[in-house]
Amino acid sequence: MRHLIVPSVDTQRWFEVIKSNGWAEEGIGILTTDDGLKAIPVNGNAPSDSDVVWQGLNIKVIARSDNVIKHWTDLIDQELLAELDEFIPRSHELIGDILVVKLEDEVYPYREVIASAMLERMPNVRLICADKGVKGEFRVRNLQPIKARDGDLSTLTRVKEHGQVIVIDPNKSYFSTRLSTERHGNYIAAKQLSNQLSRPITVCDPYAGVGPAMAGLLTESGLVDRALLGDLNPSAVELLQQNITKYLSKNNTPITVEIRCQDGRKWRDISEFNHTVDLLLVNLPHDTVSHFIDLFPLMRRNSQSLIRGWAIIDKTELQTISSRLAMLFADNGATNHSITCDEIKGFSSSKSFVRIESHQVFQ
Ligand SMILES: C[S@@+](CC[C@H](N)C(=O)[O-])C[C@H]1O[C@@H](n2cnc3c(N)ncnc32)[C@H](O)[C@@H]1O
Repeated sequence: MRHLIVPSVDTQRWFEVIKSNGWAEEGIGILTTDDGLKAIPVNGNAPSDSDVVWQGLNIKVIARSDNVIKHWTDLIDQELLAELDEFIPRSHELIGDILVVKLEDEVYPYREVIASAMLERMPNVRLICADKGVKGEFRVRNLQPIKARDGDLSTLTRVKEHGQVIVIDPNKSYFSTRLSTERHGNYIAAKQLSNQLSRPITVCDPYAGVGPAMAGLLTESGLVDRALLGDLNPSAVELLQQNITKYLSKNNTPITVEIRCQDGRKWRDISEFNHTVDLLLVNLPHDTVSHFIDLFPLMRRNSQSLIRGWAIIDKTELQTISSRLAMLFADNGATNHSITCDEIKGFSSSKSFVRIESHQVFQ
C-alpha cells in the first residue's frame, strides 16, 4: 500500500489534505517509520507518486495486513458483482460527508444496493450521490442524491481544511478540495505581504465562491483589516456570508467586510474600493487573464501589492504568458514588477492549469 512520508509536525496538515480529497485508505492507521517520520496510507484515488500536489515528499510502498481491508464490493451479492464487474465504480470522490460516484448506465439500476454497501463500509460518509456532470449558468456540479445514512438527502456539508470548517453545497456552488494547497499558499503569501508592509492588509476576492480562501486569512487576528468579497452566483453568496460570519467571530481584531453578489469586473465602478487592495485573488480560470484589466483599478497605488490568479491556458502559451502579462501589467502602471506563472497540473492534453503570482507597485 502506498504511503505519503511526512515530517511528524506536518502530519495533521497532510492528513487533512488526504482525507478531504478522498485519498485516505479508510481503516488503516498512520505509521511511524524507523527514522521518526510519519507514513500516511493513501488509496488508489490519490495522485501518482510524482504529482506536484505532494510538494516533493516521498511516496513509499509499505506492506500492511490485507485482512484489515474490506472493500464495499465485498458487501454486495457476489453473483451480481461478477455480472457487473467491468462497470462497477472503481473510484469515488469524498466532499465533506458526501461520496460522489460515477455510475455507468449498466449499474444505475443497482444504485441503491451499491449505495447501501458503500454506506456500510464507509462510516464517515452520510450521503451517496451520483455524479451527473455539471449544470446551469454557473456550471456547478450536478449531484443526484441516491441514499443517505439518516434519510437526509441534503447536499449541504462541511469540509475541514487547515483547522477551519467551510460550509459548502457542491450542488449549488463551486468548491474544490483540490485547491487546498493553493489556499494555504494564499495564507503564507498574505502573511509575507503584511510583514513586508508592517500593517494588516486589504484583500479582495471577487470570485470567492463560498469563501474558502478566507478561512485562513480572516481567522488570523491582525492579518487583514478589510475584505472585499463577492460572487455572481447568489447561492454561493449565501454560504459565503455564513462562512465569513463564522471566521470573523474567531478574530479579535476589527475587519471591515463588504460582500456583494455581482460581476467581479463591476467592483471598479464603486469609487471607494479603488486603490485600496493589497492582495487580490482571481480564481476564474477560464477568464482570469481577460478580467485582470478591470481589476487593476482596485489595487493600492505606490505600495507593494500582490495578485494571485489561477488560469487555464493553452500549453503552447506556457513559455510566453509571463512576458505577455508583464507587458499588460506595465501598461497599467505596474513598476518593480516580478511575475511567475507556474503550471500546477495538466488540465487536458492541450491545456494547463497555472498559478499566476505577481508582485508589483502600481503607480
Ligand atoms: C473557480 S470558482 C472559484 C471559487 C472560489 N474562489 C474557490 O476557490 O472555491 C469561480 C467562481 O466565480 C464565480 N463567477 C463566475 N463568473 C463571475 C463573475 N463574472 N463575477 C464574479 N463571480 C463570478 C462562480 O460562481 C464561481 O463561484
